[in-house]
Amino acid sequence: MKIFLRTYGCQMNEYDSELIESILRADGFAFVDKEEAADIILLNTCSVRDNAQRKIKGEICEIRHRFKGKKSPIIGLLGCIASHEKDHLLADKKFRADFFAGPDSYKKLPDLIRQGIKHERPADFVLSDIETYEEIYPKRKPGVNAWVSIMRGCNNFCSFCVVPYTRGRERSRSSASIVDEVKKLADEGYPQVTLLGQNVNSYNYDGVDFTQLLQMVSQIKGIRRIRFMSPNPKDFPPHLIDLIAQDPKICKHIHFPLQSGNNRILKLMNRHYTQKQFMEQIKKFRKVCPQLAITTDIIVGFPTETDDEFEDTVKVMKQVEFDAAFIFKYSQREGTLASKKYPDDVSEKEKTRRIVLLNALQKETSTQKNRELIGQIQEVLIEQKGTSKSPDDWEARTDTNKLVILPHANIKPSMCLPVRITAASAYILKAEHVTH
Ligand code: SAH
Ligand code: SF4
Ligand code: F3S
Repeated sequence: MKIFLRTYGCQMNEYDSELIESILRADGFAFVDKEEAADIILLNTCSVRDNAQRKIKGEICEIRHRFKGKKSPIIGLLGCIASHEKDHLLADKKFRADFFAGPDSYKKLPDLIRQGIKHERPADFVLSDIETYEEIYPKRKPGVNAWVSIMRGCNNFCSFCVVPYTRGRERSRSSASIVDEVKKLADEGYPQVTLLGQNVNSYNYDGVDFTQLLQMVSQIKGIRRIRFMSPNPKDFPPHLIDLIAQDPKICKHIHFPLQSGNNRILKLMNRHYTQKQFMEQIKKFRKVCPQLAITTDIIVGFPTETDDEFEDTVKVMKQVEFDAAFIFKYSQREGTLASKKYPDDVSEKEKTRRIVLLNALQKETSTQKNRELIGQIQEVLIEQKGTSKSPDDWEARTDTNKLVILPHANIKPSMCLPVRITAASAYILKAEHVTH
């Protein structure tokens, strides 16, 4: 049986898809790159924003339509939508998925698929307090970066967020299994790992905390760059920034989600920090590690957010000057605290006004910050051959996670080299090779 797997959502889901592939290959299933060639289609879904259930229904209808007149594939709905919308999905007889599995049920996939083939419409949504899949080595595509999940679930219950409901309680994976996995990755030639968790600050396994885990990973020979995401501003470990500043392997980039710059909204969001505390952290980061790039996530139009309160977010963005920001319109998610307690009362028009304004502000800041790099020499890690627009160019990244385009030359992915930045826009830097 041939499987086609499509992944939506965050890096954690990417990693889960690699686990899924590993589990199913071990059971004799094959994987194909084209949907048309598949007997089984797996959709590993995300429900963090937008009308996820309606969209995925549409997606499944389209797949059935594309296979009209041919043998229809078995469709499995996996991941966060399966977990979040389970009651609706099972009750809806018109919903044409053949089986369902939540994020902690992937070891059962071989059986679920077999039952799905017999049209038993099986479902397993049980969330576990202990499952970390730590004994499974994910089936990765060749590349420069490898995702490594260090924990699963989330206990923070930010009031807007579905993740604690879709992925269950937080649990850390043993540091020994993480170190083993990274050693194997180094042996396979991956120069970079990105450690993943919903809040990496709270990693703790048998007394090993996140800062110690980073030190352990940094000692592994062959790994040249270590990234991680995301820490939460509420409990950033006090010595982590010192380690980042001192350790050449740990990339000089922190993703630090602000969400809002207003204290009342932060409180309603259940974020457990104030604007002042956030700013103090940023000040400390910049003092200890001046070259650090800082990126963020922001939500506009959280319930009851007034214009003045939104202006506080604008103010923080202007003060901090983030290197990049991912800005989202608040999207009400069923089951979350915010959906139960507050009306989604900021109009769509107003949310659009706010997001457009913040995106424009960020574009200006990113352009200006990137332009300051023109003329500088930066060490980049080569990732891949360029885009379809310029197939002869190469894509690389700075330590600070900025995308750099390099002209054709005798280089290969995974090489680290110094380049001179020659041009800059908000999202891309251009560079030339430095000749010695
Ligand atoms: N655990 C990560 C966030 C994962 S979700 C962290 O805390 O950093 C990624 C981003 O999606 C969040 O930072 C938030 O900005 C956005 N997001 C989550 N739920 C949302 C919602 N209901 N509406 C709009 N944006 C949301
Ligand atoms: Fe969601 Fe907050 Fe957990 Fe991040 S920390 S996954 S935003 S509940
Ligand atoms: Fe990730 Fe989306 Fe789930 S962001 S954790 S796949 S809801």
